[in-house]
Order: sequence, then structure tokens, then C-alpha cells
Amino acid sequence: MASTTDLMAGILLLLLMASAPATAQKAPLTPSPSPSPAPAPAPHLVNLTHLLSVAGPFSTFLRYLQQTDVISTFQNQVNNTDQGITIFAPTDAAFSSLKKPSLANLTRDQLRSLLLSHALPQYYSLAEFRNLSQRNPVTTFAGGQYTLNFSDASGLVRVDSGWANPRISSSVISTDPVAVYEVKNVLLPVAIFGAAPPPAPAPAPAPDLTKPSDLAPSAGEAGGSSSPRSANSPDGSSSCRVDAGTVGYFLLALVGEMMLRL
Ligand SMILES: *[C@@H]1O[C@H](CO)[C@@H](O)[C@H](O)[C@H]1NC(C)=O
Ligand SMILES: *[C@@H]1O[C@H](CO)[C@@H](O)[C@H](O)[C@H]1NC(C)=O
Ligand SMILES: *[C@@H]1O[C@H](CO)[C@@H](O)[C@H](O)[C@H]1NC(C)=O
Ligand SMILES: *[C@@H]1O[C@H](CO)[C@@H](O)[C@H](O)[C@H]1NC(C)=O
Ligand SMILES: *[C@@H]1O[C@H](CO)[C@@H](O)[C@H](O)[C@H]1NC(C)=O
Repeated sequence: MASTTDLMAGILLLLLMASAPATAQKAPLTPSPSPSPAPAPAPHLVNLTHLLSVAGPFSTFLRYLQQTDVISTFQNQVNNTDQGITIFAPTDAAFSSLKKPSLANLTRDQLRSLLLSHALPQYYSLAEFRNLSQRNPVTTFAGGQYTLNFSDASGLVRVDSGWANPRISSSVISTDPVAVYEVKNVLLPVAIFGAAPPPAPAPAPAPDLTKPSDLAPSAGEAGGSSSPRSANSPDGSSSCRVDAGTVGYFLLALVGEMMLRL
């Protein structure tokens, strides 16, 4: 008796497992009549918000641009000027690797200036940076002391904010009014953060982070309580048995109910 019910339960389970993926696969295929994409009525204007949200991982940069409404300033330059715009877009990794001077304590005006200093109020193709390097320091969209220096070492073009000088290599877009170049560092301006520290060969200080102090007590607790727990091994094994028992019981109940329905 027991063996036959086991067999039937097994068959039922097999049937269930076999049928489940089939229905799951059918489901996504059936709603194939997707809404047909409407033909874009917009003119040639680049939508910077859209561009930055689909290109690269620039979500942090875009979020800051939206927070400060600098995105409107940039978009306005695209919309209403002949000069166009050149934007240096730091990747999400560039923001997440920022530690020493963090952006957390900047005033709104400072943050706005920092973001504006990631753009030039004119379109520059990659080839034109060669000429720009002869006009250092180049005033950014933020104006005043917010400048960038460009260098061109036999085709290797870099942009230098004083704190960072990433390569300008990959262009997200470079079509006359709009150029967006991906950069691997946030261009921290000297005008906000002061003179950059000399490039030391990474002594890795970082003494007062909150994380180590938070982790230390919990690690100590875990270490202290782990030895008593291992001594009281019956606790662990009994909980395992209970789990296995409940699972088995649940399965049997499920199968039994289904057999009743059949
Ligand atoms: C630009 O793109 C964003 C994101 O795709 C969208 O929300 C916004 O409506 C667009 N703006 C215009 C003027 O088309
Ligand atoms: C830019 O132009 C688009 C399309 O004409 C328009 O929808 C958008 O509001 C404009 N944005 C700005 C900031 O001028
Ligand atoms: C930010 O300001 C807080 C409070 O004024 C201060 O404790 C903290 O050290 C500052 N952090 C940075 C990175 O300047
Ligand atoms: C660079 O400047 C020179 C004149 O100084 C000009 O003839 C040349 O076309 C410029 N190159 C680019 C790529 O703008
Ligand atoms: C940029 O170049 C100018 C002129 O060569 C120089 O005085 C300035 O210190 C440079 N700034 C940075 C941040 O390298």
C-alpha cells in the first residue's frame, strides 16, 4: 500500500514538474501583440535625460543633474544655441569610488557648480581636443575658476580637473550640437576642494570609517556564541530534523489532497 502511494505521489510530482515549465514558457509568448512604437515626432534635438538613462551606467550623474536641475541648463543649451555642448559623464563607478572628498557635504550651489564644471558650453569633437590643449585652462559651463585642462600626448587625450585627469576616449555621442564623453573619474574641481593632494602611491589610510566599528561588536558576538552553539549540537540537528519532517509532511498532505481531487 505504502509503496503504491509513494509511486503515485512520485508520478504526480513528475507530472507537476513537467507541466509547470511548459505553461510558464507559454505565458510570455502569448502576449506578443506588443504596443507598436510610435514614430518619434521629435526633431533632431537630443534628449539628454533619455540619452544618459540608456547609455553607459550614468544613473548617479543623471540623478545629481536632475536633483540640481542642471539637466535643464544643459538641455537648454542643446535646444537653444548654435554652440552646442560637450559633457564629460562620469560613470556610476566613478561616483561610488569617491571616498576622500565626498560630495555629501557640498552645498546645493557647490554641487551645481561641480556638475556644471563637467561640461563645456560648446560642442567639441574628439579631434578638436588637440586644439583645446593649447588654450588651457579652459573655462567650463560653471564659469569663473571652474576650469579644465586638456592634454594630448600623441593622441591620448586627457581632461584634468586638478583632482582627476581621466582619459577622454569613449564618446557616447558626438554629433554636432552634442558631445557626451564617458570618463572614469568625477572631475572634482580645485575651486571647491582646494589644491589636490600630491599623487601618493596609495598608503591607504582610511582610519575612522564607521563600518569597522559597527562590525567589530557583531563579529565578537558571533565568535563568542559560536562555541557554545557547537557544543550544544543537538539544538542544530533537531531543528534540521523538524524542517525535513515538516517538508515531508507538507508534501504528503499536498499529494494526498490532489489524489482526493482526482
Ligand atoms: C526625455 O526623455 C525622458 C526619459 O526618457 C522623458 O521622460 C522625457 O519626457 C523626454 N523629454 C522630452 C522633451 O521628450
Ligand atoms: C527642449 O526641446 C524639447 C523639444 O522641442 C522640449 O520638449 C523641451 O522642453 C526643451 N527643453 C528645454 C530645457 O528647453
Ligand atoms: C560632513 O559634515 C559632518 C557634520 O558637519 C561632519 O561630521 C563630517 O565629517 C563631514 N564629512 C565630510 C566628508 O566632510
Ligand atoms: C586646430 O586649429 C587649427 C588652427 O590653429 C585649425 O587649422 C584646425 O582646423 C584645428 N583643428 C581642429 C580639429 O579643430
Ligand atoms: C591648467 O593649466 C594652467 C596653465 O597651463 C595651469 O596654470 C594650471 O595650474 C592648470 N590647472 C590644473 C588643474 O592642472
